[in-house]
Amino acid sequence: MHLPQPYLGMGTWGMGGTWERNPDNIDVSIEALRFGLSLGLKIIDVAELYGGGLSEEIVGRAIAGRREEAYLISKVWKTNLRYDDVLRAAHGSLKRLNTDYLDLYLVHWPSEEMPLSETMRAMEHLVDENLVRAIGVSNFSPQLMEEAQSYLKHTAIIAHEFEYNLLTREAEHEVIPYCRAHDIDLIAYRPFAKGALTQHTNVLLEELAKKYDKTPNQIALNWIISQDIVAIPKSSSEAHIKENADALGWELSPQDIERLRSA
Ligand SMILES: NC(=O)c1ccc[n+]([C@@H]2O[C@H](COP(=O)([O-])OP(=O)(O)OC[C@H]3O[C@@H](n4cnc5c(N)ncnc54)[C@H](OP(=O)(O)O)[C@@H]3O)[C@@H](O)[C@H]2O)c1
Repeated sequence: MHLPQPYLGMGTWGMGGTWERNPDNIDVSIEALRFGLSLGLKIIDVAELYGGGLSEEIVGRAIAGRREEAYLISKVWKTNLRYDDVLRAAHGSLKRLNTDYLDLYLVHWPSEEMPLSETMRAMEHLVDENLVRAIGVSNFSPQLMEEAQSYLKHTAIIAHEFEYNLLTREAEHEVIPYCRAHDIDLIAYRPFAKGALTQHTNVLLEELAKKYDKTPNQIALNWIISQDIVAIPKSSSEAHIKENADALGWELSPQDIERLRSA
């Protein structure tokens, strides 16, 4: 099982607050997500952690009446990794998202204090109950992914979400090769390095933007997507979402991907 095309989704960190609920941007966030959906950006990435649950409520309102258009990813936080807590967390997410299934449920962050075997048994149970269509992990090392998979009886980890952008490249050493070798889909979070990439000019990005008749932001996103990695930028601005969506439908040449990689 693989994530759907297009390999550009929408992040939600900050929608409805960051670490705590903040209702200030509810309407603009719902509108932004609906706008992205109407452009065909199906993949929406959220987590029980975000905005103390309000981000999931916002996503639930954005997809109301159009559940099938969306591919919903949510995540269980690292304080909820015991068997019963995982199940409770998943039910909480489903309720806030106002849906009866998640397309992909991720273990948000590993925790040395929680037994991974319990976590993964609970994740598999959610699949068996049809509450979750697929499972994955986030911020795991290859060794931990291997261990997590070993606790699953008949379910495969289908995706790994990790930080990846032109400035943060650690995943290239082990994580990306491991996932490719094990047919695990790759999801890059912070594709704009939390906005750092959108705020500074970069000579090579400018040069390639001219060459492809695109913006530097589109080059930065396409660099990820062209490597068959899903990018999930967060944006609450329709102009930015439109700009990001235009990173689809064309590809940087392998030579230019490499130039950016080695720059
Ligand atoms: N699994 C994990 O542990 C984990 C960790 C971090 C993040 N994530 C997920 O990954 C998503 C993306 O990461 P992120 O939100 O931290 O950072 P990001 O997507 O790299 O950057 C978001 C910032 O970029 C701006 N932006 C987006 N498109 C733009 C454009 N075309 N032009 C100019 N600015 C633009 C946004 O502002 P505007 O809203 O004004 O456009 C926002 O300030 C998160 O929202 C979350 O869903 C997952």
